[in-house]
Amino acid sequence: MLNIVANADVLAATAAEMIITTCQQAVRERGRCTIALAGGSTPERTYKLLTEPERSARIDWSNLWVFFGDERCVPLDDPRSNFAMAQRSLLKAPLPPAQIFPIATTGATPADAAAAYARTLAEAFPGSAPPRFDVILLGLGDDGHTASLFPGKPALHESAAWVTWSPPGVLPPPVDRVTFTFPVLNAAREVLFLVAGANKAVPLRDILEGKAKLEQHPAAGVQPSEGTLTWLVDETAASLLGQAGKGIAQGLS
Ligand code: 6PG
Repeated sequence: MLNIVANADVLAATAAEMIITTCQQAVRERGRCTIALAGGSTPERTYKLLTEPERSARIDWSNLWVFFGDERCVPLDDPRSNFAMAQRSLLKAPLPPAQIFPIATTGATPADAAAAYARTLAEAFPGSAPPRFDVILLGLGDDGHTASLFPGKPALHESAAWVTWSPPGVLPPPVDRVTFTFPVLNAAREVLFLVAGANKAVPLRDILEGKAKLEQHPAAGVQPSEGTLTWLVDETAASLLGQAGKGIAQGLS
């Protein structure tokens, strides 16, 4: 489903409301909500909105379990770390520390860090192979990547491991990454892309108008097998979408 909103502020508010609704439903139906956060910069506004009193009061933080869809291989207090970004925003909420699962990227090779996180997922999602998140948040890179699944990199073709590592893509920061693989992304009950800015217009058009190839636009590989896929985009990012793109996107699961 494609939802085009006016600007990045409206996108953040809309995303916050969608996440609150998902959390409430997941806790009602399954006793907890499991969320995997996107990194980068776009989501930070949404994360901060979720901690504001009116919205925070509508989230059962005691039953929210927070994971990371990818991480840069830097110390967790490095400003480039996705965990550090979450600490500045969402993790200021009254979450039980035992329900926050950072990807431990220091003191291990990227491959070992990925394997360790896969074990963390196995423990947190017993009997679920692959883990089925209630919601996975994703961004879209200017180069068509998502999470840390970069164009032309081997991680795109990982079909067994739930978490893998990747050398950097063309976009900064030029550090190795740890990332969910497509099996986990596509097992989610809900995937929500947050895409804002004119620099996303070309990859978004190529992906939503069906022109994208996985190698060049890895985000095109996010096609949840049973879950819902929502592209929440602002008008600048949607500026190149013709009717075809909007039509295809509306038909997305
Ligand atoms: C990361 C993210 C990455 C991000 C996109 C979009 O570690 O950087 O996981 O996939 O979501 O690069 O980033 P922006 O939303 O900041 O443009």
